[in-house]
Amino acid sequence: MRMIDLIEKKRDGGELTTAEIDWFIRAYTDDKIPDYQASALMMAVYLQGMSRRETVDLTLAIARSGEQLDLHDVAPFVVDKHSSGGVGDKTSLVVLPLVAACGIPVGKMSGRGLGSSGGTLDKMESFNGWHFEMSLPQFKQQLADVALVLSGQTAELAPADGKLYALRDVTGTVASMPLIAASIMSKKLASGADAIVLDVKMGSGAFMPTVEKAQELARIMVDIGNDAGRKTVAIISDMNQPLGHAIGNALEVKEAIDTLHGRGPEGFWAHCLEIAGQMILLAGKAQSLDEAKGLATAVRSNGTAWQKFRDLVRAQGGDVAQADDPSLLPQAAYVEPLLAPQSGTIAAMDTAAIGWACVRLGAGRLVKTDEVDHAVGFVLPAKIGDTYKAGDTIGTIYANDRAKLAEAREGVLAAITWSEEVVRPLPHIYAVVE
Ligand code: URA
Repeated sequence: MRMIDLIEKKRDGGELTTAEIDWFIRAYTDDKIPDYQASALMMAVYLQGMSRRETVDLTLAIARSGEQLDLHDVAPFVVDKHSSGGVGDKTSLVVLPLVAACGIPVGKMSGRGLGSSGGTLDKMESFNGWHFEMSLPQFKQQLADVALVLSGQTAELAPADGKLYALRDVTGTVASMPLIAASIMSKKLASGADAIVLDVKMGSGAFMPTVEKAQELARIMVDIGNDAGRKTVAIISDMNQPLGHAIGNALEVKEAIDTLHGRGPEGFWAHCLEIAGQMILLAGKAQSLDEAKGLATAVRSNGTAWQKFRDLVRAQGGDVAQADDPSLLPQAAYVEPLLAPQSGTIAAMDTAAIGWACVRLGAGRLVKTDEVDHAVGFVLPAKIGDTYKAGDTIGTIYANDRAKLAEAREGVLAAITWSEEVVRPLPHIYAVVE
């Protein structure tokens, strides 16, 4: 086969065959296709789209590009979750211990921050000594011993996705529905999950701007998962404002700890309960979503979910004293209130812009080699529909640099739209796709 033929076919709106997609993924993984030709194909897919059959073929080809895990020797049934990315999204830190505490093994591979979205691994690295690098036997051992493990993505798992994602990131081809679906689902299929709950975000801080687009993406991913024999459910959740209050690594860890102790933001807990409930239901531990949510609430109330969180910190080398006393987590030198610039009601938030303001404070990376500052970020309890008077405190900025603090203040305030009218609060969940 010749790469130029595949590029021209897709450029002109044609449908690639299963054999062509398999050949492309194999040859690209083996470094036999140059990045410029792979980029041209990604752009052609971005512009022309892919049929359902092509998307499934692409997903399966990427999943087969490396090792495919089988965890059944250490866990009879493994449940996984995946978020399509968001600002203030520390859901995994709460949900994974809840589910593990219900007796369901959770072996999750997570990522670092990407664009304006934070990453679970960066957040957990707020604990001194916590690490996520481990061999596959170590991953399995911890899954057997603790029933909870959080690692990075290994190079052996879906390597074609690693290469393609890096290429898409710098060629304007990330926000393509078939490419996102194949990227996410190939990793989930390769990592050996029997059941998958997808948290598909929609809104100003997400890849998908509308409920309809998010539902379309969710439908494709759920179908791919179920066709591959994995029980898959997707939740369409809101990202028109940050999730919870805290944005930034150690601040989010503290909020997750508070939530596991029953004193986190209500909306964030409702979101965690929905995701945990769906995971517990898929694992067959409950007959209904209400019953599943009841189990998750019970393991929070009796402290077993909290003990699972501590186990996760300790098992991966983290300092449990910081979990027990979050004031020992990295602390910012400057802590200043964020004041409402005018009286009115919050009508809209540019969530991605708030995420970028946090990245520029140092909580994320502008270039790959940047060091993350775990202490910095925002606590922003202000939500769409809330009314303030000029000068009221709407949040707090945590910074280690005065100039960056001033820039962050401007960035967040510019991202908030005010109105004189009454504005209805937003729902947390828009739909469930089964
Ligand atoms: N997350 C992924 O893993 N891949 C994408 O393409 C987008 C979000």
